[in-house]
Amino acid sequence: MNNKFTFVTKIFLIKYFCVLFTICFVEGSFAQTNQIESKIDSLLSRMTLEEKIGQLNQFAGTNKQRDELVEEGKVGSFLGVKGAAEINRIQKIAMEKSRLKIPIIFGNDVIHGYKTTFPIPLAASCSWDTELVKSSAGIAAFEAASEGTNWTFAPMVDIARDPRWGRIAEGAGEDPYLGSAMAIALVEGFQGKNLSDKNTIAACAKHFVAYGAAEGGRDYNTVDISDRTLKEIYLPPFKAAVDAGVVTIMSAFNSLNGVPASANHYTITDILKNSWRFNGFVVSDYNSIGELINHGIAGNKAQAALKAITAGVDMDMVGDTIEGYVYEPNLSKLIDEKKLSIKVIDASVRRILRVKYRLGLFEHPYVDTSYFRNNSLASSYKNSVALRLAEESIVLLKNKKNILPLKKDIKSIAVIGPLADDHYDPLGPWACMPVPENVVTVLQGIKNLVPASTKIKYIKGCEIIGGDKKEFDNAVKVAGESDVVILILGESAGMSGEAASRTNIDLPGFQEKLAETIFKVGKPVVVVLMNGRPLTINWIAENIPSVLECWFLGDQTGNAIANVLFGNYNPSGKLSVSFPRSTGQIPVYYNHLNTGRPFQENNKYTSKYLDSPNTPFFPFGYGLSYTTFKYDSIKISENKIKIGDTTSVSVKVMNTGKAAGEEIVQLYLRDLVASVSRPVKELKGFKRIYLNPGEEKTVTFSITPAMLKFYNIDMKKVIKPGKFQIMIGGNSNAALSDYFYVEE
Ligand code: NOJ
Repeated sequence: MNNKFTFVTKIFLIKYFCVLFTICFVEGSFAQTNQIESKIDSLLSRMTLEEKIGQLNQFAGTNKQRDELVEEGKVGSFLGVKGAAEINRIQKIAMEKSRLKIPIIFGNDVIHGYKTTFPIPLAASCSWDTELVKSSAGIAAFEAASEGTNWTFAPMVDIARDPRWGRIAEGAGEDPYLGSAMAIALVEGFQGKNLSDKNTIAACAKHFVAYGAAEGGRDYNTVDISDRTLKEIYLPPFKAAVDAGVVTIMSAFNSLNGVPASANHYTITDILKNSWRFNGFVVSDYNSIGELINHGIAGNKAQAALKAITAGVDMDMVGDTIEGYVYEPNLSKLIDEKKLSIKVIDASVRRILRVKYRLGLFEHPYVDTSYFRNNSLASSYKNSVALRLAEESIVLLKNKKNILPLKKDIKSIAVIGPLADDHYDPLGPWACMPVPENVVTVLQGIKNLVPASTKIKYIKGCEIIGGDKKEFDNAVKVAGESDVVILILGESAGMSGEAASRTNIDLPGFQEKLAETIFKVGKPVVVVLMNGRPLTINWIAENIPSVLECWFLGDQTGNAIANVLFGNYNPSGKLSVSFPRSTGQIPVYYNHLNTGRPFQENNKYTSKYLDSPNTPFFPFGYGLSYTTFKYDSIKISENKIKIGDTTSVSVKVMNTGKAAGEEIVQLYLRDLVASVSRPVKELKGFKRIYLNPGEEKTVTFSITPAMLKFYNIDMKKVIKPGKFQIMIGGNSNAALSDYFYVEE
């Protein structure tokens, strides 16, 4: 009795303190919010129209009259200014010489690291390791903040189903669920627990919206998609970023169903600001307001400015090196001509000032170098996160006859290929302040790992792009003299990223020819790929026994790849994007609809090609390990649930091989009959588990009402009664399956 009493009392007290804490916390943040809003009220009441419009301008750091503009209060933000000394110098002008002393927010593209360069986002998404990705963003934020950057134009949360599009490298691949998980991790990593801390920076989810659906995969191209596809595929990662507290959003270059994204009232104001209650600010992409003229929806810059500001674009990212200013001087003219209300300007200024207050810029406008000296992050910590993320990003595509892992005491190794000893390309597109000398090349990584007695012979073999076959004979000789050949092939960093679309996504130059020539030598060959997009690598995937997809892994490239090659790390990465068999097959993605005539063998009149299977070469979620995992005993806790109820599903996963390893267990759902066609499967959960040989773990997923919701025929989000299929496995071809029913 006494015990029970104590127990009940304890529970009561815990609950009481939790409630009290929540009230204090919520009230505290309300009070803080109110304080910020009243400070903004007071500032706004003192600002001239010119000063207000000033806040809405982001200038490129190359602007010649930079200092005067700052002094006159005409600059809200700069992009591309780097370094504590220069940023502090400019900020000093704003804080000491401008009338209202409003700090400037300095933005840069801190995409996958600042100085320490991590794997490109597409690679990192193959780790499915949100905690590690978050840590990498935290380090990037720390380094960027220590040199004065307050704001990063990341994460790019665009879903990409077309590998021709070069910017696929900057995102998390094809899936909205995984894309949302990565969006949250990156926002939380950059912004930290408290945005006003000195070591955090504002994040920017971009490019709003559907930029990844560019027709033909050609960058900046037209986007024409249904409202359903917009809401089901392209918007969810943005919503996740907003819910995670992202304070800025970038409007995209593309037009969306005829309306350019940077003048799109429906997406920016109706959805983002009104429906999602996003209270940060929207910045345009580089000159995307000026480009409304090219889109043909504005006859001049004044019209472009009017369309953008009334659609909800708060800040004009101005490429003054290209086109000249748009918001400045046109917004004041529009006010004079009574075409624009001052209320619209005030609302945008408020949003920008809100972010500046939340960042703590008014309290600590300058880089506090002594803070960063006293709190510096150990390079051992930064490198260990970079190494682990690089290892986890690697996807083992093929390992016939278990050529990998290689024995550490192997006598001789041929390291061949244009990317084998390259310090630049492994940094990938959008490296911010990289230090190429810090990049451990594959050749160095292998040398670091094997004993001095192992003979390593290196030859480039050919160039990445173009070039000739002059070195082939020597490469053949080197291969013939070695026990194993490691061929490092791929794209240059500049072949993906912005303005880097391709119609042909084969290995460029003479690289495939080099692989064919070396293969004929008859030695065991491992191909290590570095690239910023899925490639069509059919010959390699069919002939070369072991293939590692390594993307661009940043500083720790060579160490991570060597660790995987020699089994210090057992690969666990899973593709976040499908690998097509040919460009003719694009788009190919796992969460497609079934069609009325789904593919049937021996039935001509079903949906298929005459010359290719429908399936990708490597599916979404796919990746091998040096061990094997067996999935067994799928169990659904309640096979019949009511609308709004939760059920759960569990599965046993056993390590049936000889090495310890990690597996990413994936949960897919299918709504079998609904008012609109539903995808054949959709990722709804994943868990990373570690298993020793022979070990078994039960993995359980909750099936929550949110997972069962879909947009019905009236575009309302609902759950409908009916039959649902659950599929669980180690890739999107997950074979274990069972059913449950949702009832009224
Ligand atoms: C254009 C790119 O589309 C965007 O992603 C980037 O943040 C800006 N330029 C600024 O560099």
